[in-house]
Amino acid sequence: MVKNTSTLLLTLATAALCGCGNNSMKSDPYEILTATFGHLEDGREALIYTLSNANGVTAKITNYGATLVSLKAPDRDGTIEDLLHGYDSVDGYAGSKNPYFGASVGRFGNRIKDGKFTLDCKDYILATNNDPGGIPCHLHGGVDGFNRRIWTATLRPESNAITFTYVSVDGEEGYPGTLSAEITYQLNDNNELTWTAVATTDAPTVLNMVHHPYWNLSGDHSTSINDHILMLPCDRYLPTNVGLIPTGELASVTGTPMDFTQPTQIGLRVNDQFEALEFAGGYDHCWVLEQPNVNGLALAARVKDPKSGRTMEVHTNQVGVQFYGGNFLSPEDFQGEFASGKGGLAYEFRTALCLETEGFPDAPNQANFPSTVLRPGETYEHRMLYHFSAE
Ligand code: GLA
Repeated sequence: MVKNTSTLLLTLATAALCGCGNNSMKSDPYEILTATFGHLEDGREALIYTLSNANGVTAKITNYGATLVSLKAPDRDGTIEDLLHGYDSVDGYAGSKNPYFGASVGRFGNRIKDGKFTLDCKDYILATNNDPGGIPCHLHGGVDGFNRRIWTATLRPESNAITFTYVSVDGEEGYPGTLSAEITYQLNDNNELTWTAVATTDAPTVLNMVHHPYWNLSGDHSTSINDHILMLPCDRYLPTNVGLIPTGELASVTGTPMDFTQPTQIGLRVNDQFEALEFAGGYDHCWVLEQPNVNGLALAARVKDPKSGRTMEVHTNQVGVQFYGGNFLSPEDFQGEFASGKGGLAYEFRTALCLETEGFPDAPNQANFPSTVLRPGETYEHRMLYHFSAE
């Protein structure tokens, strides 16, 4: 029997609602919305793009810093909320107080001791734009890192993805080699958002691109993340000195407040008298991913907000994961013209956490750490997958 058109449309619509279809059967591409995100002081316009999926999950990304501005996902009752700290327009992201909210960080995420490294017998000097414990170091790519650049966006609605490209010229922020970098965000109907960074260089350089969203899975950005439950599949972590530079040791987590091998409430031990926590003012360390899957993805972290049931898993191909508990967040940072957070909220101490997969901090100066050197002919690839669910 031949169905008439309206019956056929109804059947197709029902199939879509039941989730019976799959991506390859979709006849229409996903729709990616584009809007203005305001203007920079020099007049350039920033744009914001929205990816969405069949479950109401949305990801908003701006071409300023290839930054993830918002990620909305349902709780166990289906209530959809934004899980990210951030700003309402590009002004906040471009402002001097922005602590890398949602940023794509580069060239080198995390810290480099004294802002110096030697590669192939040549010395390189980088900006020292951070000074924990009063000791200057290089942080997150320098003064005008990748997070402060306008990237070129290519929308790919057929795969619900956006690719951003940026060419970092030889000598930019002190790093050698002209680097061609590409970052792709993709959202699927399994509530997975991927962030993939790929890069090539025309001269030897060091590279550690890092994704830096600040999460509060409750969706209430005035509440502490100390009640979130965290699991890190890591038997070791990297102790640091007071300047938050790794000592070079890979220390066991066993019997310490750094042990998250079993799901543990973040706040349970954060105030323990333990040197690593005292130096960093809480959690702000790189944990060692014991079974990295360099050509695939391995679990790096699992975090759950018990109130809403929202759970996020982070998977990666990297060797480490920085867990930062928002110790530097302070309402004073959010005063001033361009500095208030979303909806005018001044984010308080430990109201968000970061889980940044990465090569080890200060690897350019530490011969026993996995290499972060990229040479001509090689392709750097950093894969991350965030999976959102509710329990
Ligand atoms: C990283 C670092 C923290 C902090 C933030 C940015 O997560 O580990 O120490 O500098 O970036 O504020």
